[in-house]
Order: sequence, then structure tokens, then C-alpha cells
Amino acid sequence: MVRTVFLGTGHFVPEKVVTNDDLAKLMDTTDEWIQQRTGIKQRRYVDWDKEPMGSSDLGTRAARVALENAGVSKDEIDCIIYATLSPDKPFPGDGVIVQAKLDVPAGVPCFDIRNQCSGFLYSLQTADAFIKTGLYRRVLVIGSEVHSSGIELADRGRDVAVIFGDGAAACVLGPSDKEDGRGVLSVHLHADGRFANELHIPYPSSAENPRLCAARLESGDHFPHMNGKNVFKHAVARMPEAVLEALGKHGLTPKDLKLVIPHQANQRITDLVQRRLDLSDEQVFSNIAEYGNTTAASIPLGLDQAVKAGRVKPGDLVCFVAFGAGFTWGAAIVRW
Ligand SMILES: CC(C)(COP(=O)(O)OP(=O)(O)OC[C@H]1O[C@@H](n2cnc3c(N)ncnc32)[C@H](O)[C@@H]1OP(=O)(O)O)[C@@H](O)C(=O)NCCC(=O)NCCS
Repeated sequence: MVRTVFLGTGHFVPEKVVTNDDLAKLMDTTDEWIQQRTGIKQRRYVDWDKEPMGSSDLGTRAARVALENAGVSKDEIDCIIYATLSPDKPFPGDGVIVQAKLDVPAGVPCFDIRNQCSGFLYSLQTADAFIKTGLYRRVLVIGSEVHSSGIELADRGRDVAVIFGDGAAACVLGPSDKEDGRGVLSVHLHADGRFANELHIPYPSSAENPRLCAARLESGDHFPHMNGKNVFKHAVARMPEAVLEALGKHGLTPKDLKLVIPHQANQRITDLVQRRLDLSDEQVFSNIAEYGNTTAASIPLGLDQAVKAGRVKPGDLVCFVAFGAGFTWGAAIVRW
């Protein structure tokens, strides 16, 4: 039986560290409030004065590291799947932009997945299906976000602005027919569009004509809007549910997991998921204190760090779980 395996992982974050105290100079907030409510101490931002970069620049750098770790050349890539909510431009997607930047051969299919914090899981399931059916042998999956140019760094946007950070991560996936049981066991995805307005950027919109006008920008509707309490409430219910669903398919329980890598939305969400699943501290990965919420990059960034730190070894059972805008959510079980 063919399984999808991770051939290599990599990440890239901008050098510039932005602390909670730095944000307190721009808006009415405090280090104490941010740490208490979210667990975030700092995040990375593109350094707009020194080296402006778009999502595709971060994604390209992360992809280079993943390809090198995988020992796969750009000429071997059969497909690029790119997850982001902050593409360089409305169209075309960043997938093709990264194809050109990496000099991946012409003709290779590339596309974007726009599922925000669940974007990596949606990309993983898509890649897994392509690989298992034999359509592609080397799929490059990238999650990349530049939030720092798209959040309102002022009092009005403070509830959202303090959460997000810039970053990118990538992995190279391919088939294995070894009898060692390693690879993606299953990915489980869900969505409920009735909650689409609970976390969104309303503007510009194709439902308005003209689509973009200067006067409308005063409203701040081109920045993310979030009903934080409702997002929180749903996240802490859906994430444990998704983990149990994924484990249940294989007759496994939370005790069988070496590591859970949750989407890094908020440390309080992670803590509640941990409690509901009765997981030990060692079983749960967290880097939110250092990077904040990097949306589509968050799970692959955690994965790359966990692998490099030796927290995930061959044969270990790993679980990814995410919840985000849409609402969309899901979980994946991988035998590393
Ligand atoms: C955003 C979030 C941290 C806010 O925490 P909360 O406990 O719900 O806080 P509230 O929204 O009730 O706000 C409490 C107060 O803090 C204020 N506040 C909001 N942001 C603030 C900030 N950055 N600094 C200081 N005060 C802030 C609010 O204005 C409110 O003031 P009020 O009581 O005078 O009206 C929390 O709702 C959350 O984490 N939600 C999930 C968000 C998430 O994970 N999003 C990504 C999903 S992938």
C-alpha cells in the first residue's frame, strides 16, 4: 500500500523580532494583557525599512530549505501547493510566483489553497490524495504569511494585531511502499461557512462596485475583523473533536501520540485542547510565545522545529490539528 511520507521540512522567519512592548508603543495594550490572554511574548515581522518581502519571498526561502533537507532538486517537483491568506497580490496565486522564483520547470502545476489557519491541513490532504493515486511523486507544500503589512497597528485593530506574526514553512512529500507503516495515516477536514463573518477581511469585495475606493478604506474593513470570543469557543470544541475523530479511525487514543502539533492560535486554546485530551506537557508542541500566530505556516513551522529538536523520531505518531477562519478545521495523523 502506498503511503505519503515527508521527505524533508524547512522554515524561514524574518529576523526582525517585535515584542509586546514594541506593540504597546503603537496601540493601547500591554505586555501583561497580551501574555495573559494569548501566551505571546514576541513575533517576527518583515523589516519593511531594510528588506521588504512578500509572502512568496518567505515561502521561497522556506521551500529551498525543505528541498535541501529532502535531497530533492527543483527539477523533480511535480506539483506546488501553496497555502496563504496573505498572497503577494489578488491574482495570480503565490504558487506560480514561487515556481518562478525557485525556477521549477515550466508546465508543473501550481495552485493556492485559501483556508487560513487550516490551510496546511487542506494542502496536506490534497497532496496525500495526489500521491496515493500516483498522480504526482514529489509535491512541495508551502504555508507562508506576511501579516505585518495587513493588520491595523493602532487601537482600533489591537485585538487582532497582537496575535499575528510573519513566517513560512514548507515540506516535500512523496510516496513510500515500504511495510514500515510510516507516512500520513489520514487527514480529516471540516468547514462551516455559516461562521464566515466571524473572522474575515471584508474588503475589497467583488460584491461592491467599484470594488475599491479610497473613501471606503477609512472604515478599516480592509483589515481583519474577528469575533474573538466566538472563535475561541468553537476552536476549543472542534479541535479536540477532530483529534479524537482522526485517532478513532485507526483505533488509537491520545496516549498513543508522541506529539500533537496544534495550530498556534492562542496558548489558552492549546492548553484547553491539551486538558480535554488529557495530554502531558511533553505531548504538546508550542512556539506561540516566540512567533505568535503564523496562520498557514504555523503547523509546518512547528513540525520543522520539532523534527530538528528531536521531539519527533522515525516511527513516532504525530497529530496535527487546526481551527481557523471559515470556520474550517481538521486533524491529521502521521506515523513519522
Ligand atoms: C482575541 C482574544 C485574545 C481576546 O481575549 P478575550 O478574553 O476574549 O478579550 P475580550 O475580547 O473580551 O476583550 C477584553 C477587553 O480587552 C480589550 N482588548 C482587546 N484587545 C486588547 C489588546 N490587544 N490589549 C489590551 N486590551 C485589549 C477589549 O477591548 C476588552 O475591553 P473592554 O472589556 O473594556 O470592552 C481572545 O478572544 C482569543 O484569543 N480568541 C481567539 C482568537 C484566535 O485564536 N484567532 C485566530 C484563530 S485561528
